[in-house]
Amino acid sequence: MLRSGVERAITTPGLPRDTLEVLEEVLQEVNRMTELVDALLTLARADEGRAELHKEPVDLREIVAEAGETGELLAEQAGVTMDVGTSGAAVVVSVDRSRIRQLILNLVENAVKYTPRGGSVQVRLGQEDGRVTLTVADSGIGIAPGDLPHVFDRFWRADTARTRTGERPGTGLGLAICKWIAEAHGGTIAVTSRPGRGTTFVVSLPGPTDGRTVGPSD
Ligand SMILES: Nc1ncnc2c1ncn2[C@@H]1O[C@H](COP(=O)(O)OP(=O)(O)O)[C@@H](O)[C@H]1O
Ligand SMILES: [Mg+2]
Repeated sequence: MLRSGVERAITTPGLPRDTLEVLEEVLQEVNRMTELVDALLTLARADEGRAELHKEPVDLREIVAEAGETGELLAEQAGVTMDVGTSGAAVVVSVDRSRIRQLILNLVENAVKYTPRGGSVQVRLGQEDGRVTLTVADSGIGIAPGDLPHVFDRFWRADTARTRTGERPGTGLGLAICKWIAEAHGGTIAVTSRPGRGTTFVVSLPGPTDGRTVGPSD
């Protein structure tokens, strides 16, 4: 409601420049607040066990490709190259499509956000030992070894992220949500990083029951 009002106001013809600038700042702030509230609600519902998963058979290649397209737009703006690769064969698993999309998007957004201009981001979908692995790797700023145990904590942001919020806005809730989504699907999420060299997140999910189709769960 508030957002659409501001959006409408912004398009008013003949607005003075400084009014336009204020409205743009308001819109950005509204978007940040909306993001924060959405993230808090998601985690609160998850805590209560009320965040149900709507599972259906999904070919993960589709979601990876979709998220990749969004990621490419972000990457282009950030001057980062993005490379999305999926294995040849279909990877059909029973998942909540929108949650898995959110998981991949969060990781891709982070990878782009924490990679300086000229760097690169790689997204890979593969299968290993009957499990599906989704890898998002970047050549960005990396995470200090002492910080690694905290990255999935709620509200945690590295000093470099907190002191430069103008450049890299965020709530520190994205990875907490990623962890919840992975675990709610019977999966795991892990991170490795080298400061100044880059970061790799690996999500491992239960694979297709027979390699091609989704069977009844047990
Ligand atoms: N790909 C990455 N490279 C470097 N640091 C990262 C990366 N992803 C996450 N981080 C660090 O982990 C913190 C938590 O990530 P997240 O929960 O997504 O919060 P944010 O809202 O800050 O993006 C970030 O603030 C940043 O310090
Ligand atoms: Mg984030």
